[in-house]
Amino acid sequence: MGRKKVELYSLAELKRQGRKITMLTAYDYPTAKLLDEEGIDVILVGDSVANVVLGYSDTRPVTVDEMLYHCKAVMRGVQYSLVIGDMPFMSFNLSQQDAVANAGRFIKEVGVDAVKIEGGGAMVERVASVVQAGIPVCGHLGLTPQTASLLGGYRVQGKMAAQAATLVEDAIALQDAGVFMLVLELVPARLAGLIARKLEIPVIGIGAGVDCDGQVLVVHDMLGINPAFTPKFLRRYADLDGVIREAVQTYRSEVVAEEYPLEDHSFTMADEEFDHLLTLLGEAPSVDGDSD
Ligand code: KIV
Repeated sequence: MGRKKVELYSLAELKRQGRKITMLTAYDYPTAKLLDEEGIDVILVGDSVANVVLGYSDTRPVTVDEMLYHCKAVMRGVQYSLVIGDMPFMSFNLSQQDAVANAGRFIKEVGVDAVKIEGGGAMVERVASVVQAGIPVCGHLGLTPQTASLLGGYRVQGKMAAQAATLVEDAIALQDAGVFMLVLELVPARLAGLIARKLEIPVIGIGAGVDCDGQVLVVHDMLGINPAFTPKFLRRYADLDGVIREAVQTYRSEVVAEEYPLEDHSFTMADEEFDHLLTLLGEAPSVDGDSD
């Protein structure tokens, strides 16, 4: 049977079957195409594009227009994966109307399958209004990078019972508000497992242990493009930093040593055409030719 496009209901079905859901970020066409072809279930165009690709120190500066630009590139590379566009800081924080209008842009202008919105508490109503407008929403609790400064920085959330209870309440409130999936970031494994068991919707972890219904990582981190980023939860599946540096060094030294390009990489021009050119330029005919 041919491969089918991943839909919202297929993710719920995977949770029911106990098959872990795979999710990675992508911000461009070639990466998205690779992930799609390799069978990744969900591609997140994360606002992590801000620090991972655009060079900002956190996720907050990225704008809706920039997110839409990256989402469009990703969509061109995807046939089967479910694509989620991340709603950036201040695109849903001001009002319900703003939240719905901005979420609507991801659907109407790009055609992503869903959006992701960070936060519980006061944000639950925002999420509900976006869902009620007919837009599928993925929630995001635990360490929410857009509001990390209010959470004491990039640190594990829910280690103490009272804070953990709030996380459980927020997770249930988001499910009740209609989210189809929930990302839990930097949460103790046993708390994440408890939330995943309590919820009917799939719970996807990043730094949240193995008992979630699936895992997400930032693709640059798992490919080892930024070796300075070494959080405890990360496993590196490749050393692209090393591979790229070695290739660039080899290229550099070969160009300097005139070992690249070789004749095989070069295009030829017939002797008579070249001599004609020299005549046109008023120069002496060439001594050695390079015709085919
Ligand atoms: O923006 C992002 O990459 C994310 C993931 C870390 C879940 O939100």
